[in-house]
Amino acid sequence: MSVEYVEKVYNRYSSFYDLIFGKIFHSGREKAPELLQLQPGMQVLDVGIGTGLSLLELPLSCPIIGIDLSQKMLHEAEKRLTKLGRSNVALYKMDATRMLFPDNSFDRVLAAYFISTVPDPVAVVREMKRVCKPQGYLLFLNHFQSENPVLAAVEKLISPLCYRIGFRTDLNLKDLIEDAGLVVDRLERIDFAGNWKAVRCLNIK
Ligand SMILES: C[S@@+](CC[C@H](N)C(=O)[O-])C[C@H]1O[C@@H](n2cnc3c(N)ncnc32)[C@H](O)[C@@H]1O
Repeated sequence: MSVEYVEKVYNRYSSFYDLIFGKIFHSGREKAPELLQLQPGMQVLDVGIGTGLSLLELPLSCPIIGIDLSQKMLHEAEKRLTKLGRSNVALYKMDATRMLFPDNSFDRVLAAYFISTVPDPVAVVREMKRVCKPQGYLLFLNHFQSENPVLAAVEKLISPLCYRIGFRTDLNLKDLIEDAGLVVDRLERIDFAGNWKAVRCLNIK
């Protein structure tokens, strides 16, 4: 799948995304500030910010930059910003595979329900590491392939179908960690009875 295809899919989702994915991933997003250990003034990047649902949880005291491929998802995020009266957030249409930020720009990088939607997750994680300061945190909230071999096989089987509707189901956490050179420092089970995970990584360069 190409970046252009993903953009098209999420442009289509934009008007009803919150209705489907708002409540069901709420518990994970709610945990993000604590897992990110945010302190006032920390620069935060929200990669694949979508309609900005995470903004409801992130503090006013941190400058936040949100990027997304989909102009229509960003339009929904802009509407949310106006409604919330938030002035600490800037939104940009940008491909996370090729971010326009200099090295070491952010203290924290959040990827909420995002990394399994990109065609090349390893390239995106490398970019996230590049723009994050040394010793900063990268936080992934996501579904990863099950450790149960039967479920993992089913997830592999249905993944091409699911990817047509915007996400893959067979992203293997262990492989991603190894291939992208991540250092995991905290792992928690979050949404859907713990089948989705919060994975916090320390950015060691
Ligand atoms: C499932 S949504 C998650 C949105 C939001 N983070 C949340 O918590 O609901 C995935 C988002 O990632 C965006 N996306 C996918 N690939 C991307 C890429 N290469 N660069 C930037 N955004 C991307 C999609 O447009 C979509 O808005």
